[in-house]
Parts: sequence; C-alpha cells; structure tokens
Amino acid sequence: MRPKIRIGVLISGSGTNLQAVIDSTRQGRIDAEVVVVGADRNNATGLDRARRSGISTFAVDYGDIIRQYCSSPDNRTLPPDFDLETIKRKQHLLSADAPDEKVNTFLTTRALAESRLLDQLEPFELDLLVLAGFMRNFTPYFIDRFNADADRPRIMNIHPALLPAFPGVDGYGDTFRYGCKVAGCTVHFIDYGEDSGPIIAQKTFAIEENDTLEQVREKGLALEWQLYPECIQLFAEGRLHLVTVTHTLDNGQIVQRRIVKIVQEKE
Ligand code: GRF
Repeated sequence: MRPKIRIGVLISGSGTNLQAVIDSTRQGRIDAEVVVVGADRNNATGLDRARRSGISTFAVDYGDIIRQYCSSPDNRTLPPDFDLETIKRKQHLLSADAPDEKVNTFLTTRALAESRLLDQLEPFELDLLVLAGFMRNFTPYFIDRFNADADRPRIMNIHPALLPAFPGVDGYGDTFRYGCKVAGCTVHFIDYGEDSGPIIAQKTFAIEENDTLEQVREKGLALEWQLYPECIQLFAEGRLHLVTVTHTLDNGQIVQRRIVKIVQEKE
C-alpha cells in the first residue's frame, strides 16, 4: 500500500466537498488523510463536519483582519518576509490600471491573513492543500511560501465551471445565465491569477431545457464530489506533472503555457 499523503483543506461555507474528500479517505478510496481543516471565518459551518470527524480545525478571520487594518493601517506589523513590490509585480488578481492604494491595501491585508494561515498550517507538514469552496484568492506571498518548488505545485482548487470560461464567484450561475447547453466543474492548481492555474481534470453535464439554476448546481456539485477525490488520488500517485508547452499560431505568434500532464502510474 502507498503511504498516505497529508492534506489540509480550506473552506468558507458548508463544506460538502470537504465531506466528500473526508469520506473518500475514510473509506480507503484514496491514499490520503485530511489532517487539518481551516476557514476564513469563524462561522463556516463546514468546520463542524471536520470536528465531527475528529480533525483539527482553525479559522483565520479575514474580515476581522481587513477591518482592523483599514481602521489603523500604521499599527499593523507586517510579516518580515513581506515585500509589497515583489508581490505587486507577480500578482494577476488586480488589473494593471487599478488604483495603487487599492492594490496596496488588498495585497497587504491578504498577506497579513495569509501569514497567519501559514503559521496555522505549518505544524501539519502538509503534502497538499485543497481549497474546497474557499472564497479567497491567494496572493503570491502565500503561494510562493507554500509551493517551495514552483514546478511542483501543491495547492488545488475546485471551480464550478468549465474553466477558462466563467472564472469568479458564481460559476454555475454564470454558465446558466449565459445559456450554455453544457456545464461542468474543474480542478486546477493555483497560480497568481483568479481561477487561471493549470487544469488537472474536468467533468461535464448537460443543461436540459427545463433545468433551473438550482438543478444545475445540484448536478454540478454531485460531479464535484467525484472529481476532487479523483484528482487528489492522481496527486498521491505522483501522476500530475507540470510541463511547459509551446505552440506557434498561424500568424506566427508563439504562445507558451504550463499545463498538467497526467502520466501513467509506474508498474
Ligand atoms: C462548490 O461549488 C465549489 O466548486 C465552489 O464553492 C462551492 C463549495 O461548496 N468553489 P461546498 O462548501 O463544498 O458545499
């Protein structure tokens, strides 16, 4: 039997994906163990699912940290390894023409919260961090510290749409309102943008003529509960390799992208 990888899960809400991952680990369907669950708010109901399963939990209250910073910005001690200019240069979350003050406040408050998250996660010696309905984007501050090796990303996210279509907070809603006939969910590694990282796997389903948005969400969630454990297992098997592919377009333009190749398991 393969040794189990150690997973941390971050949530914001009800945690049905978290439950699916816990169930898969407990039923021995994946070679992984959830060792800690964190949230960006104290009242995330999914934390109870973790507690009921005897898993350590914590919350880093982003809202509180942001409010405190905004009420007295000069009173905050920033993490010693925080360099605003480097993070600004790397990030793709806010557009280049966003007002400087807005960008500075966003990145500084998030890094304050992220350094607390890192402190909470560090003792658990995680192999993989799984975002399951975690409604916060990570800045390069967190990503670079968690992914010590950029070629071996260790933060996964599940998104309720067929990326790169419909990034953002309401994937199923956006898909439904657009009039799409096919919807789906995507598991991807996190990069410096919003829902823009290398895609690991996707599942699709048809939107029927009379489906309501609620029905679309239900169909999608049921597929998410299958997809996430499958992707975690591929990670546990060491089968997710990041490669850089280069294409030359008809107009001569060269495009490069880092993508995930799923390699065969070694005999
Ligand atoms: C899921 O649809 C997930 O794709 C999205 O947020 C929702 C979380 O649901 N990011 P749950 O908390 O796992 O029930």
